[in-house]
Amino acid sequence: MARKKKKRSQKKPTRKRRGLRILVLNGPNLDRLGKREPEIYGRHTLADIETELQAMARERGHDVTLLQSNHEGDLIGWIGAAEDEGYSGILLNAASLTHTSIGLYDALKGTKVLAVEVHLSNPHARESFRHVSTISSACVGTIAGFRARSYTLALDALLDHLGG
Ligand code: DQA
Repeated sequence: MARKKKKRSQKKPTRKRRGLRILVLNGPNLDRLGKREPEIYGRHTLADIETELQAMARERGHDVTLLQSNHEGDLIGWIGAAEDEGYSGILLNAASLTHTSIGLYDALKGTKVLAVEVHLSNPHARESFRHVSTISSACVGTIAGFRARSYTLALDALLDHLGG
């Protein structure tokens, strides 16, 4: 009796999707989150935010690196190096530098790595000098006003945008 041929699996070979590396950059005074004007910025520390972002990224198979500096040049350097270091996206809370820095705008324009502008508070509901952002037009979008949740909302949006 002829043997029945075993049907080959129709399943396509699954190619493992590579996780994305996301850089989370924080500018001046954000090292003092939790203590600094909590009525405006909330009580979460930057370490709390880092933990939340890492958990969220890992759940989706990605990875987050969070850095903070009070110096504009550090942030410019990190943005400039991001592409070569294999990052696919940046969340940037440039803090006060948001309102003044052409250097950050140039750094964002000079990289292929996509960035989302993030703020804990809503700068447009505050003093008029905060209504200007020099970096917005170099970013994919802006998330502001949801305190620490702005970061997780921004990560979710950036990962979706990058197809992750
Ligand atoms: C901020 C808003 C900026 O205007 C301010 O200078 C900050 C924090 C925010 O996250 O709400 O330092 O970027």
